[in-house]
Amino acid sequence: KTRVLTGITTSGTPHLGNYVGAIRPAIEDSRKENVESFFFLADYHSIIKTRDPIRVHQSTREIAATWLALGLDVDRVTFYRQSDIPEITELCWILNCMTAKGLMNRAHAYKAAVQQNIDDEEADPDKGITMGLFSYPVLMAADILMFNAHRVPVGRDQIQHLEMARDIAARMNHHYKLKFALPEAVVDENTAVLNGLDGRKMSKSYDNIIPLFAPEKKLRKLIMKIKTNCLEPGEPKDPDTCTLFQIFSAFAAPSEVEEKRQQYYNGAGWGELKQALFEYLNEQLQGPRERYEALMDDPQYVETVLKAGAEKARAEAKPFLQKIRHGIGIRPIE
Ligand code: TYM
Repeated sequence: KTRVLTGITTSGTPHLGNYVGAIRPAIEDSRKENVESFFFLADYHSIIKTRDPIRVHQSTREIAATWLALGLDVDRVTFYRQSDIPEITELCWILNCMTAKGLMNRAHAYKAAVQQNIDDEEADPDKGITMGLFSYPVLMAADILMFNAHRVPVGRDQIQHLEMARDIAARMNHHYKLKFALPEAVVDENTAVLNGLDGRKMSKSYDNIIPLFAPEKKLRKLIMKIKTNCLEPGEPKDPDTCTLFQIFSAFAAPSEVEEKRQQYYNGAGWGELKQALFEYLNEQLQGPRERYEALMDDPQYVETVLKAGAEKARAEAKPFLQKIRHGIGIRPIE
């Protein structure tokens, strides 16, 4: 069986980018025969990005409710919270001892943080950078290798992390008598980077997101805010450089996308195009949004699901970690 695994960091409200880049392809994969899926809430990753406990807690609830509202079949998949699986953090330490520091020096997120300090003319280029941020990809490798995942559906921003996970797995296999599966990123070129309100990549850190389950009024308001150029109604518009069109394309069937493309060429007005996108998204998201709201009102149910998921995940992780410990010469605990 092919193992599919993916996770979302619990540092904010799930948005359209998370959905089309990771959640939707993951759920689609999980319905295939011969696929075993592991989806999780990366809550230990979240404290790298935020130190607000309320935000972490709220985000965890929101992301869990999102997966469930979208029809995740928890009997078929293993759905859990990273922090409920202590084997992952233990494996993370082991992998840390096998990971070259030089490899981590090349990580985009770390490099970007250093560059920011240089641009800000800070005396110390590492100012404010924690070991958590620096070794972030190692924890991610542990998430993936713990379950021997083959395929990891993600947006483009995670490709480098997947390459690092492969690299770390190969090193482990080379040095020890272990056989970690070498994971591969699965990226859909059409939805690899969904843009946000300001035209940059939609991201919690840019504050330009459209929450997947924004209430109807809010959704409308946000769509009206998407940045466009100053072309007037009647002037032909270029769909391929337009965030509105990109979002529409990520949701609509190919024939509908073609139809929309013609409307751009024919000079439809921005107001009209925005209204159409709102109606389209709203109709698609209405059902899941209602389920989401009901799940947000029932934290106990969500907790029960996560607890059951953790048990399933640990049933895998525990014996595998024992094997790893054995393989590296750390005596297994009887
Ligand atoms: P995170 O929480 O930043 O994002 C979750 C997933 O959503 C994708 N994504 C996007 N895709 C398309 N367009 C966008 N604008 C967009 N924004 C986000 C991300 O690529 C990601 O797939 N490190 C990961 C979480 C993680 C993980 C893992 C993922 C931890 N361990 C193991 C896979 C396997 C992260 O912070 O994703």
